This record gives sequence, C-alpha cells and structure tokens, in this order.
Amino acid sequence: MSQPTIESVLQEKRLFYPPQTLAQKAQVKSMADYQALYDKATADPQAFWAELAEQELHWFKKWDQVLDWQPPFAKWFVGGKLNISYNCLDRHLTTWRRHKAALIWEGEPGDSRTLTYAQLHREVCQVANALKSLGIKKGDRVGLYMPMVPEAAIAMLACARIGAPHTVVFGGFSAEALKDRLNDAEAKLVITADGGFRKDKTIALKAAVDAALEDNGVPSVKNVLVVQRTKQDVSMEAGRDHWWHELQAEASADCPAEEMDAEDVLFILYTSGTTGKPKGVVHTIGGYNLYTHMTLKWAFDLKDTDIYWCTADVGWITGHSYIVYGPLSNGATSLMYEGVPRPSNPGCFWDMVEKYGVNIFYTAPTAIRTFLKMGDEIPKARDLSSLRLLGTVGEPINPEAWMWYHHVIGGGECPIVDTWWQTETGGFMITPLPGAIPTKPGSATKPFPGILADVVDIDGNPVGANEGGYLVIKHPWPGMMRTVYGDDDRFRRTYWEHIPPQNGQYVYFAGDGARKDEDGYFWVMGRVDDVISVSGHRLGTMEIESALVSHPAVAEAAVVGRKDEIKGEDVFAFVTLEDTHSPSDELKQALKQHVVAEIGAIARPGEIRFAEALPKTRSGKIIRRFLRNLASGEDLVGDASTMEDQSVLDKLREG
Ligand code: PRX
Repeated sequence: MSQPTIESVLQEKRLFYPPQTLAQKAQVKSMADYQALYDKATADPQAFWAELAEQELHWFKKWDQVLDWQPPFAKWFVGGKLNISYNCLDRHLTTWRRHKAALIWEGEPGDSRTLTYAQLHREVCQVANALKSLGIKKGDRVGLYMPMVPEAAIAMLACARIGAPHTVVFGGFSAEALKDRLNDAEAKLVITADGGFRKDKTIALKAAVDAALEDNGVPSVKNVLVVQRTKQDVSMEAGRDHWWHELQAEASADCPAEEMDAEDVLFILYTSGTTGKPKGVVHTIGGYNLYTHMTLKWAFDLKDTDIYWCTADVGWITGHSYIVYGPLSNGATSLMYEGVPRPSNPGCFWDMVEKYGVNIFYTAPTAIRTFLKMGDEIPKARDLSSLRLLGTVGEPINPEAWMWYHHVIGGGECPIVDTWWQTETGGFMITPLPGAIPTKPGSATKPFPGILADVVDIDGNPVGANEGGYLVIKHPWPGMMRTVYGDDDRFRRTYWEHIPPQNGQYVYFAGDGARKDEDGYFWVMGRVDDVISVSGHRLGTMEIESALVSHPAVAEAAVVGRKDEIKGEDVFAFVTLEDTHSPSDELKQALKQHVVAEIGAIARPGEIRFAEALPKTRSGKIIRRFLRNLASGEDLVGDASTMEDQSVLDKLREG
C-alpha cells in the first residue's frame, strides 16, 4: 500500500456513478444540475453568493456590498450584520428543531450526552455570560485548549456570541506550542479542562496551561476557565483560575447575540507553513458562515433526519467547520466522539455507527488505512447499514484504501465524498456533490460551484490535461482566509505571489501539486512546499528543525517526510551534532522527546539519523530532495553536481 503517485493515479480509470435512489432525492441530482449551478456561479459569483446568503442565513442587517476585492484582501457582505451563534442556535428555536439533537456526544470511557438545540442554546448563553463576568468583551481573543467534550463546542459558540474571536489549540500540542500561539494571538483568557481521555490514558491539559503561563509566560492572559472532565488533581491559582461549572451555575441564561459586522474576526487558527513560526489564519464571520453552511449542505447532501459524524478534533479546521459551525448552522445533528481507535477498542468507530445509526461518516485516509490493515472482520461484525455517504479529507487517498472504504464500510452503496480543502479555504473547495458527480478513486473530482480552480505552471499558464502543475484558485470565495494574524505581508507573500497575477487577476496558490484529467477531474498529489502531512496532521519541516536545533547537542537539522503505509508520511530528521556530543541511542531518544516537548507528540520524529554533514549546494542551501530520497530508501533523483562535497551523500547512505 502506498501513497498515490502520478503514475498510479494516471492508470486509475474506474468510475462510480451516484446510486439512482440517492440521486433522485439529492439536492443536486445530476451532472447537468451541477454544471448549471457551476456555470451560474462562474458567470456572476457575487450574485450567486448573495442569493444564497439571503436564502440560507439570518442577517440583523443586510450588506451594502457583496464583495470588496482589493487583491489580495477580500471583504464579503460589507456592512452586513449577523452572528454565527444566532445562525447556529437561536433561529432553530422557533422551529421544530428546538427539541432536535444538536450535539450527540460520546466520551472515551463510554459516558454520553445529548444536547438539543434549546439545551445547547441555554448553555452557550450561560457560558457567554460567564466570559463577560471575567471581563471578556467584543474583540478580545480567547484561547481554547480542550478535549473533545461538548464544552469545546459550547465555548466556541459562546465566544462567537459575544464577538470574542477564539483561537483553538489542539490538545495534543505541547505547553511550549500553546504558549507561542497564545502569545501571538495575545489571548486574554484560556478555556481548558482538568484533563481529557485519550487512548486509554488521561492527558494533563490544565498542567500544560499552567506551564505555558508560568513566569508570566503569556502576559496577556488574565484568567483561566477550567472544565471538570477527568477529575484529576489540578492546581487552581486563586484569582486567575475558575471552574466552568461554578461560573456557569451562577450565570444567567439570557444573553442576546451581539450584532457583529460580517467582516469581524470569528477565529484565528494556527497552521504550519514553510517557516518555523505557525501562521494565524484569520476567518471572519459572514463569509465563513455562508461557506461552511453551503458546502456541508450540498457536498454531504444533508437531510434533516441525518445523524452526521465527523471524526476530526475541534482543534483543527475540520472540527471548526464540519463538527461545529457548518452542521449547526444547517440545524443538523452532529455527533462528537472523544475516543480514537486504539488496540483496546479497534471497533469503536463502527460501534458508534451502529449505536447511533450514523448516516454520514467523515474521516481521514490515515484512519481508513489503519482499519484496512486491521481486517474486514471488525467492521463486518457491526451493522453499518445506516450509512448513506462516506467522506474523506486531509491527504490524498490511495485508490486501494478508497475501494476498501467503498466496499467494506459502504457496502458498495455509499458515494465517497473526497473533499480537498485547507485551513485557509475555510471549507470544501474541490469535492463531489454525491447525487451528481460520478467519482473516481483518488480524485476529489470537481470544484464546488463558485470555485474557479485550475492547475497552472509556475508562470500561471494552465497546463494540459494530465500534466502536473500547481493548484490555484482564480476568484475570491466567501470562506477564504482574510489574512495571517498580524502579518498582512506574510499573507501576500505566502499565497498570492508565487504565481504572478494573470491579466491583473491575482490567483491563490494553495501549496499543492495537482493535475486535471481529460474529464476535468482534479487529482491532488500533495504539497509542493516544506509542509508534510503526518496522519493527516499538517506539520512544517522548519518548525521541527527549529525544535531540534534548540537542543544543546544539535548543530544542524534537516527534516523531511518519509512515505509511510498508514500515516501517509512520517517525520525523518537528519541531525549533525555539536563537537561536544556524540551519537547514541539515548541521544536519539532525548531528541525525539525534545521535539515532543517543543511541539507535541504529533511531531515526534519516526527516525533520526545522525550525520557528519548535510548535502548542500555551493551557496550553502540544504538539498532536501536528496534527503527525501535517502529517507524513503529511493535512488537519488536529480543532479548532484551542484553539491559542495559529493562524499556527504555516500556517508549519509551508509548511515
Ligand atoms: O495538501 C492538502 C491536504 O491537506 C492540506 C491542508 O491541510 P490543513 O490545512 O491541515 O487542512 C486539512 C483539512 C482540510 C492541503 O494543502 N489535503 C486536504 N484534503 C485533501 C488533501 N490532499 C488530497 N486530497 C484531499 N482530499
């Protein structure tokens, strides 16, 4: 089993048509319907989005201008007033959905909770008032460092309700990584929990927050709100730390949603790029609300009776857009699960599907490959007949995993919705609409209506069918990021200057390589920059290198992705040592642990190779291409003649 290569997917010719019964009931029923929508959106994107915004969302005040585009800065629904928490909660309360399950949650130890829209609304209002009582006002940033509990969604919605941008930091990040992100966002308050349950263990979230805040580590943070989850011992600093349940119990359940400007910031979410410092991706309220709402509605052909389950963590964009905001804005029932498959419970996902009668299931290729390896017996022993649609996201899915997902999980009946998108795009960009677009294993198929995607060369010229190139978007869309927090210049350089503007039109550079086949289907091949994807988690190689060189033993480090059967890629680090240190297994372990402490367990190198020197050009640039080849045990690709010292490669190979 391997990741797709140009050669392997070029040979992939299978086509799977939408099942007729599904197509008949779908919102977009045929290729002709899709094409008509796509053409309409392309002809007049502003009119297309404005019509949907009017029809699908509640506005306190309508916008004056649909789009203000000062490349590369976009504003959507300028002058419009709304609140995403109102759209996710209040507006459903006057309908039958008032008593519909908004969130169904199951904890790792098997405890569970269901919150109807009315109940969720009540808790969100109480917590919003609790935040106000701690001095949080419109515009103040709030950090979240939470396990997968309903309180994570409640906290996000409470922040949105009072206009305080949230910045969620995945609970698997270390105290150091948390500290960097809280400082960059200048968060005023942190919401966390005493701990969380993960893979049969508890994780110490509050202790990590304490470590991040130690010695005035984040001067902007004044208060910490702590959810009681595991009941493990935690220290509570008087005056600074408060129990969530105590403040919630005192708080009023009356908290009208703040009337927010469409372009006010909804959240900042940090993601890895090509430099050592993660970027704070900024999303604003109006465009993001509309975009996550529409993409979920059409790509997962959402029905009011559906039980919809996305297995992501709220710490990532997938959790933001497709566990919380997209589903709740649509009035759907969103399932949240704290557990992850683990040796002690390899069938836990399928137990959830059976127990709750899940209709739409959305996960990542790395999970699918793990299940495939465990064998068919585990899913086959459960009743998965409720499933109607299956989704995948995060990295290219290899056709073998796609076929297994289709047959073994979907019983050959469920279209596979392969959604290509990014933290930056807010929502799905290239995805099948399952009643309309026939699927091909390994292809995310066609752009969503309103998304002008293309594959171009480095000068911006479209490449021919089946030729590889760079994936770009040629027109702004409502869900796009607005900037890098505090760094407009980095936003411009990273996304808008790699490909020169075409006839004065700026194009968004996604950082992915892709090709388009003769049917106009997109095949995303993976990143073209120094970003790697480990189990679908996005990591910057420079970030890991910075972590390594901050260890006193390390002189220089170069990190590359090595192909991995299950994870897609694994972290492979080449390290040269200071003269004062010599290679040993203990040092390798210490360096791995150091990366875990600096970033988090998701970045732990699978392998560290000590080297006397790294391959460099005469101008001193590390030649990563060779390191990638060496890490994956492949022949070296390319010309070594520009290298300063040719013997370096031989030594590395032996190493
Ligand atoms: O390389 C692409 C890959 O994930 C990157 C975005 O990562 P992140 O911002 O963490 O968001 C992940 C969840 C949206 C992309 O640049 N990627 C995402 N979805 C796919 C994918 N690669 C291939 N196929 C996909 N469906």
